[in-house]
Amino acid sequence: MDYNTRENIFKLAKEWVLEAGGKIRNTIDDPLEVSSKSNPNDLVTTMDKNTEKFFVNKIKTTFPDHLLLSEEGFGDDLDSLDGTVWIIDPIDGTMNFVQQKRNFAISVGVYHEGIGEIGLIYNVMEDELYSAKRGEGAFKNDKKLPLLEKGIRLEESVIGLNHFWLCENRLVDEKVMQNLVKTARGSRTYGSAALEFAYVAEGILEGYLTMGLSPWDIAAGMVIVSEVGGITTNIDGNPINMVGRNSVFVGHPDVHKRIIEDFIQKGRK
Ligand code: IPD
Ligand code: CA
Ligand code: CA
Repeated sequence: MDYNTRENIFKLAKEWVLEAGGKIRNTIDDPLEVSSKSNPNDLVTTMDKNTEKFFVNKIKTTFPDHLLLSEEGFGDDLDSLDGTVWIIDPIDGTMNFVQQKRNFAISVGVYHEGIGEIGLIYNVMEDELYSAKRGEGAFKNDKKLPLLEKGIRLEESVIGLNHFWLCENRLVDEKVMQNLVKTARGSRTYGSAALEFAYVAEGILEGYLTMGLSPWDIAAGMVIVSEVGGITTNIDGNPINMVGRNSVFVGHPDVHKRIIEDFIQKGRK
C-alpha cells in the first residue's frame, strides 16, 4: 500500500471512529435493545449493529473495492485477507457497555494483502484513541507510546486474563494458571480484548491471555502492539490465523517467552 493511500485511509478511519464514538457517548443513557447470540452472556445491542452499519456505509461508499470483516454480519463473507480489508468490532466489550456503560472500545484494523497497516482502538467513554500505522510507531491520542522496556520480569508484571483460566478448562491445567497468577505481581480482567491490547501497547499490562478470539477482537491491537515491540501469537506461541478463531497471547517479549516456557508448555492439555 503506498504512502498517500494509507495516509488518506488513516485520516478517514480516524474521523469515522471518533464520529461513531461521539454518537455512542451522546446516547449512552438512551434505552437499549439487548439480545443474546451464541449463549445468554454473549450480548448484542442495537448500538453494536448501528455502529457496524455506520462503518459499512462509509467504507463501501468511499472505497467500493475495499472489503470488510466485521462481527455483526453486515460486512463481507471472507476466507482470506486478499486485497484491502477493514476488520471491525463496532463495540468490543459489549457486556461492559450494557452493564457498566464504560470500558468498551471501537476497534478498527486495516490490512492490505494480509499485512496490518493501520490500527485504531477507541476507548469511547474516556475519549482515548490508541492508533498506529505500520512502521510509524503507536500513539495514545497525540502522544507517541515508547517502545516496551527491555528486561521486564514476570514477578514485576501485571497480566490480563479471564478468570475462566483458573476454572477447569480444556486448554491449560488450571493449577498451572493459578501458579502464573501467584507468580506475577498482579492480574487484571478488563472485559474488552481491544482495550487489553491497547494496555499492553501502553506498557500498563505486560501480557494478556485469552482462550478464543475472532479477528475483529485483535486486528487493530496487533498493529498497535507490534509498533512498540510487543508480540501476538496463539497460546502455543504460533502465528494467529487472521480469518479464524484463535487462543491469543499478546505481550512484552520477555514476559511472553517466560510464560510460554515456564507455564503454558508445562500445563498444556
Ligand atoms: C468480547 C470481549 C471480551 C472477550 C470476549 C470477546 P465483544 O468481545 O473482547 O473481553 O473476553 O471473548 O468476545 O463480544 O464484547 O465484542
Ligand atoms: Ca469483541
Ligand atoms: Ca463486539
